[in-house]
Amino acid sequence: KNDNYIVGIETSCDETAVAIVKNGTEIISNVVASQIESHKRFGGVVPEIASRHHVEQMTIVLEEAFEQAAIEWEAIDAVAVTEGPGLVGALLIGVNAAKALAFAKQKPLVGVHHIAGHIYANRFEQEFEFPLLALVVSGGHTELVLMKEHGHFEVIGETRDDAAGEAYDKVARMLNLPYPGGPHIDRLAGTGEESIKFPRAWLEEESFDFSFSGLKSSVINTIHNAKQRGEELKNEDIAASFQASVVEVLTEKTYKAAKQYGVKKVIVAGGVAANQGLRTALQKKFSEIAIPLLIPPLNLCTDNAAMIAGAGTIAYQQGKRSGWDLNANPSLVL
Ligand code: KG4
Ligand code: ZN
Repeated sequence: KNDNYIVGIETSCDETAVAIVKNGTEIISNVVASQIESHKRFGGVVPEIASRHHVEQMTIVLEEAFEQAAIEWEAIDAVAVTEGPGLVGALLIGVNAAKALAFAKQKPLVGVHHIAGHIYANRFEQEFEFPLLALVVSGGHTELVLMKEHGHFEVIGETRDDAAGEAYDKVARMLNLPYPGGPHIDRLAGTGEESIKFPRAWLEEESFDFSFSGLKSSVINTIHNAKQRGEELKNEDIAASFQASVVEVLTEKTYKAAKQYGVKKVIVAGGVAANQGLRTALQKKFSEIAIPLLIPPLNLCTDNAAMIAGAGTIAYQQGKRSGWDLNANPSLVL
């Protein structure tokens, strides 16, 4: 048999997810149980609540993934699981579920880096071409990753403070928008105008690093000063102005890196890849040069297990195996 069927398990944050993927390129089933409703009233993910939900949901989601795929365990080649980074208590549920399953069903176990997963979500859309540049923008990460071959990741730029999604969520909170705030800011930005010129953090000339904390402070100060002067700022305009700053820096740095490293393809990954402003700006920028740009559909941008199975397939095919001592690693490096 030449086909590889890999089970993926993801519990690094607030989604309990199990998927089954064929050859790393075809999604057979992809089940995600979101906990957003449980965390909303706290304005963010509460780690202890996340872990408890993962425990409750794991077997249900697992059974549904197998039911939807109409596949038996005999046909499965390996179990891939997110081993980090993420919330340690949340990761532990997935890691232990994967270990138990792999042990009971006598299948190889493959630990996967969450960001490798986000990157490999793109491979369900299109085959990779190397060198490849990935812009990873999520609630916990903002990174430019260079790949010269499958399974090898070189971080050429990363955030020095807040992640892009984190900045979105914090600004949303200032505007009293519900958690997670990214999509709400995105929607508001679409109807507002860039009436405030917020700073762009370009950092050093040759650096591909990012910084969003200065922008965040600038938004706080602007809102605060306007209030003191009795001025009324429109939320739409704050959102549009904030988004313009984030999108411009992400787009320009990605473009510069793509040219400098002579990449054959650029992909975008992570929750913030769902951002309409970012998608439009990147598409416009890359249509000017002959480097193909790939942005996955919305359901593959946010956390899911198909992406973990996808990255896990490559790791499995490259002979990577995890031992029974596999542990959750909240600060795993790519
Ligand atoms: O990748 P993801 O689901 O989880 C992490 O691994 O972090 O990303 C979640 C992040 C949140 O910060 C959320 O606000 C942000 O992605 N996000 C967005 C949009 N949709 C989700 N940010 C901006 N615009 C969006 N449309
Ligand atoms: Zn993620």
